Amino acid sequence: MINRPRRLRGSDTLRKAVRETRMSADSLILPLFIKEGKNIKQEIQSLPNQFHYSPDMVGQAIEEALKNGVKAVLLFGLPENKDEFGTEAFNENGVLQKGIHEIKKNYPEMYVITDVCMCEYTSHGHCGILNGEQVDNDKTLPYLAKIALSHVKAGADMVAPSDMMDGRISAIRMTLDQNGFSDTPIMSYSVKYASAFYGPFREAACSAPAFGNRKGYQMDYHNSREAIKEALLDASEGADILMVKPALSYLDIIKAVKEQTHLPIAAYSVSGEYAMIKAAAGQGLIDEYNVMCESAVSIYRAGADILISYYAKEIAAAIKRGD
Ligand code: PBG
Ligand code: ZN
Repeated sequence: MINRPRRLRGSDTLRKAVRETRMSADSLILPLFIKEGKNIKQEIQSLPNQFHYSPDMVGQAIEEALKNGVKAVLLFGLPENKDEFGTEAFNENGVLQKGIHEIKKNYPEMYVITDVCMCEYTSHGHCGILNGEQVDNDKTLPYLAKIALSHVKAGADMVAPSDMMDGRISAIRMTLDQNGFSDTPIMSYSVKYASAFYGPFREAACSAPAFGNRKGYQMDYHNSREAIKEALLDASEGADILMVKPALSYLDIIKAVKEQTHLPIAAYSVSGEYAMIKAAAGQGLIDEYNVMCESAVSIYRAGADILISYYAKEIAAAIKRGD
């Protein structure tokens, strides 16, 4: 026998030397939930070991992230009050704006990205302004632009619109540019599927739609060429980073978008992916640490440049250990 692939598997040193996928904590982003109030650090039922923090407490989470080598966070806000137009989302004293201030004041080295959407802020839980039972695309755009601008004014380093309205990257880019923020990047949730994997998040963020679903604006998971259409549109509108979401059931999409665009690709390993691992591990059915590592590597192997994960700290630690 001339060819013996096992020769390269003979020792840990050799296996690691010929690895095709290498990860770095530099590319990890940790999602965080900031809740209106004071002195709150409360575990989220649907997401074990993830917490709601009030703005005055979020520093704890930032310190832990930095200590583990995670240098970027993706922030979500949980306001006290919701209304039809999601006005709390662009209130300069809103919960997220306060959280951003708090973080950038005490930890300027932490890179702060904000989720730009309306569903956590609207009384009906949809990602935009309603016209009857439909989300009105064009009426929603100026709101998204206002929300993004208020985040950036509060100190956000980057904005990440997740609403899936058509033309929102243009609208946000134009508003940021007109207000002197032409250097602030946009990470677009370009390829975002209408997914049941968001369930635990919606419980965590109190953002489930009061009626209907999000299939009228998020993508149909039967489609993959449509992912390229969305990605190219966002790129042409000025997106700097393209995101695919969810991650694990969409590795083919990550690969396709990576091959057919020239922008960095972020993959969001969403709440349901995290919760499934936690639940199965909690039952003793799988090994949490190893499944976490294998899942994360598969997402990078598919072509992700950036990984957004509730396990970001643990993955950073795993990378350090050489796993
Ligand atoms: C807001 C938003 C959602 C997620 C990120 N931004 C929920 C949704 O679209 O319903 C999901 C994140 C996760 O499940 O971890 N639109
Ligand atoms: Zn939304």
